[in-house]
Amino acid sequence: MKPFLFVTDLDHTLVGDKKALEQLNQELENHRKVYGSKIVYATGRSLTLYQELTTEQSLLNPDALITAVGTEIYFDSNYETPDLEWSSKLSVGWNRDLVVEIAAKFEDLVPQQDSEQRPFKVSYLIPEEAAKQILPQLNNLLENENIKFKLIYSGSEDLDILPLDADKGLAVKFLQNRWKYYSQETVVCGDSGNDIALFSVGEERGIIVGNARSELREWYEANKTDYRYFATSFYADGILEGLRFLNFL
Ligand code: GLC
Ligand code: MG
Repeated sequence: MKPFLFVTDLDHTLVGDKKALEQLNQELENHRKVYGSKIVYATGRSLTLYQELTTEQSLLNPDALITAVGTEIYFDSNYETPDLEWSSKLSVGWNRDLVVEIAAKFEDLVPQQDSEQRPFKVSYLIPEEAAKQILPQLNNLLENENIKFKLIYSGSEDLDILPLDADKGLAVKFLQNRWKYYSQETVVCGDSGNDIALFSVGEERGIIVGNARSELREWYEANKTDYRYFATSFYADGILEGLRFLNFL
């Protein structure tokens, strides 16, 4: 057994089955102690909503925490300020006020709660049918302004507008560089649209939990390789199944 970099989404991936989570926690904590593996949570939630989740679920203390869909990175339970090197990379070509102004032209885009509006993330709710129509138009308007952005649609309701250089996958690359882990020593786990970046950024070993949402299922079907595993079990059980299949545990 060797150390590996373990990266997982939280909602409906790590979290969803408390008993399975306990077992996975034990095995990961043990691996970290014995082999020095690193544990990273990569969530769409803001730090505020992450901290709320930690009061409801038994989560481990991660070696790094990626929040707000990859736009903020915190190290070693220091939640005062996100990593400044990462934030400064994201500010290039980003104009948050202009993004908000342009998005306000679309009545169907309903702003998410305040805690989820972050310096490098502007988030809305929009149903799937409306999203199909509006996202191409929004994309064009933002492109015309020369903003360096990307749109990420998840779970058939959440729209995130982020700087072009931000997403969960790019945040993982940043950690790999800092800690010196290769793709084949990294395993990423997810269930929905904002996790596609984890699987597509390189050749990281991937686990898609059995309960994954349609957008990720479709992406998986269209991009099959032998280093990604679609588990039959759900949530943390799916992760355990995948870690064994990929020979990390
Ligand atoms: C989380 C965040 C939300 C985001 C969604 C999808 O639910 O709280 O702001 O839109 O993930 O990325
Ligand atoms: Mg999720």
